[in-house]
Amino acid sequence: MSDQTAPVKSTLTVTIDNITIEVNPGTTVLQAARMIGGDVTPPAMCYYSKLEGSGGKCRTCLVEIAAGSAKDPRPMPKLQASCRTGVMDGMVVKNITSDKVPEARAGVVEFLLLNHPLDCPICDQAGECHLQDLGYEHGHEGTRFDFKRRTFEREDIGPHIQLHMNRCILCYRCTYVADQLTEGRCHGVLDRGDHAQISTYISKAVDNDFSGNMIDVCPVGALTDKTFRFKNRVWFTKPMKAHRNCDTCCGEVTLWNRGEDVLRVTARKDQWGEVANSTKDGKTGWICNTCRFDKKKTSDWVIEGPMQIDRHSVISQGQYMKQTAVDETVSKVIGRSPKLLMDIHSISDVNKD
Ligand code: SF4
Ligand code: FES
Repeated sequence: MSDQTAPVKSTLTVTIDNITIEVNPGTTVLQAARMIGGDVTPPAMCYYSKLEGSGGKCRTCLVEIAAGSAKDPRPMPKLQASCRTGVMDGMVVKNITSDKVPEARAGVVEFLLLNHPLDCPICDQAGECHLQDLGYEHGHEGTRFDFKRRTFEREDIGPHIQLHMNRCILCYRCTYVADQLTEGRCHGVLDRGDHAQISTYISKAVDNDFSGNMIDVCPVGALTDKTFRFKNRVWFTKPMKAHRNCDTCCGEVTLWNRGEDVLRVTARKDQWGEVANSTKDGKTGWICNTCRFDKKKTSDWVIEGPMQIDRHSVISQGQYMKQTAVDETVSKVIGRSPKLLMDIHSISDVNKD
């Protein structure tokens, strides 16, 4: 006789790349992998934890399900999109331990790059582009695509944002931002298949307080900040944590400085490259267009200090957090402080201090 009184398990056990964790029901495989962190986490080009409904478009997060659940331990016949696959109790998942995933992911990269121009040397997103990182880590060298890439004219959508559709990978994130953060979305994906493109409906400008967040969620250089375009390479800039009192948004940002100049203002990003939660209320720290586009003086901000960039891409290489002062070598060489060289006033009657 079955035990009707056995307590219902409130958490689910999942094993990803031989690491077992407990998660709450409703957790996806990708979310579980992010809880473990590190290399176990599949890349995600369209899923964005802060945007409802995102995911399931790009297939970069494919994983192998080696056992469906404890009750039905058969492997799933095809690789699954981890951002859209819910954890089942006893599920066994392979990401970096799978021998099928790397080949499949290389195929996805090849598809994403079929029409994407290889213009990283002149693209503003270079250095912080998720597709660049994905191609580097999971792609094959070279291309087998001999046909002409599809091309579009650049389009100004609103006063601050330029759409370079050639680079768009149709992840839909920007349409979710427009839907969920702003009133009256007026852009979206037009047409289908090879003709699909992001565009403003009858060229209506996207102009509302939070439209700039579309730039932050775009994983490639398709949506760029017109106030920053071609101003600098991102790895030459210094990211600084800053905040201001803003009535519209949380006012917590990253300033991308060159010397004293604020070249760009963005929302703060977390380790997954997503907009981080605000320290004020724990909600997503989306920022308004006034903070992003109009506050370009250091004096507009309270600077908190250097921003730690967790991403593995080139922007995290330009760290200056542990900079040390250069050794003062003159005193070492001459064996005393360089009084006569540097400070003649105390022994000279000619010049006053
Ligand atoms: S413009 Fe950027 S965010 Fe929008 S669908 Fe294309 S790649 Fe995604
Ligand atoms: S991140 Fe899962 S399909 Fe795009």
